[in-house]
Amino acid sequence: MKILTVNDIVHLIQLVGLNHFFDIVIKALHSDFKRWSDFQLSPRHAVHFKDGVIELMPCADNDFYTFKYVNGHPQNPQFDKLCVVAIGQISDCRTGYPLLLSEMTLLTAVRTAAVGALVAQYLSRAKVESLAMIGTGTQAEFQVIAFHHVFPFQTLYYYDIDPFAMQKFSYNLASMPFQIIPCRSIIEAVVNSDIVITATAAKARQKLFSIEDIQPGTHIHAMGGDCPGKTEFSAELVRQCKVVVEYIPQSIEEGELQQCMDYAIHAEVWELVCGIKPGRVDNQEITLFDSVGFALEDYSILRVVDQLARQYQLGTEFHMLPELADPKNLFVLLN
Ligand SMILES: NC(=O)c1ccc[n+]([C@@H]2O[C@H](COP(=O)([O-])OP(=O)(O)OC[C@H]3O[C@@H](n4cnc5c(N)ncnc54)[C@H](O)[C@@H]3O)[C@@H](O)[C@H]2O)c1
Repeated sequence: MKILTVNDIVHLIQLVGLNHFFDIVIKALHSDFKRWSDFQLSPRHAVHFKDGVIELMPCADNDFYTFKYVNGHPQNPQFDKLCVVAIGQISDCRTGYPLLLSEMTLLTAVRTAAVGALVAQYLSRAKVESLAMIGTGTQAEFQVIAFHHVFPFQTLYYYDIDPFAMQKFSYNLASMPFQIIPCRSIIEAVVNSDIVITATAAKARQKLFSIEDIQPGTHIHAMGGDCPGKTEFSAELVRQCKVVVEYIPQSIEEGELQQCMDYAIHAEVWELVCGIKPGRVDNQEITLFDSVGFALEDYSILRVVDQLARQYQLGTEFHMLPELADPKNLFVLLN
């Protein structure tokens, strides 16, 4: 069984180049969402604690079964720990044997940004000149770089309640070919932005802004609210948007939609990708991708890194499974 560590994934992304890696992942997501009916899908299994949530996210087609272990602990940064960490596995469906175990903290940030950029291609206006990033923590740079790769905007507005997170963010993006404007409030950041990404972490019902604070035609990529009791917008705002989700049975429990379960969701992502439902139809509508993170996205990126690791000969084989001359004689190992 192969293991890909954090260092392996960093090395792999450096070899491939981050922009090209986003290209590959966006294409893989597109092609996997397109064959939606090939997959056995289910909402993730979530166990809630006072300080956060621990989740298992399985997904399988006829060849490969994948799952991710991931948490969400908004207070963790106060204790110098990440809010979200993850590991993931691929197994062979014919034998059930595990094939690969990979770090997925970095991969979660990449796939979450990649799916946001993919969906924005259906929901944003064609011309995107500015983007607002609300919440400049762990996920933020990945989001901005993926979106800029797809929509080469000129201006980035950003805001976080934590000034150190804002400094870190502007430092990391200093060499990017767009203007980076720190804002004193969320409203200042979103008022003139074509796309707004919200990646705040709080185990609370936040109301980051209201519909009156943004321009008609804005696309909102709401990715921070991703479990029960953790939302970023009011039900009133959600009801005034054209809403797209990853997988309805999971999103109505975990997304912004948990506040208005009766709301008529426009589409699941696969329906946009397959052309069954239209994305944006005019320049005035406000669109919202209520992203909570779905197991198919982890399947896609795990399969991508499995193939690339083979190509670049990365990773280490570990002896995690017994190899027996007689498969019924496990006891021989202890003899
Ligand atoms: N949809 C998905 O697939 C997906 C994937 C990964 C993470 N997430 C979620 O995204 C959120 C962000 O994750 P992260 O790893 O970047 O967390 P993080 O803790 O590293 O960063 C979150 C940032 O939000 C800021 N923040 C909190 N409330 C704010 C407010 N009202 N206004 C402005 N800024 C505010 C915090 O100061 C912090 O800097 C989390 O809730 C996480 O669970 C979703």
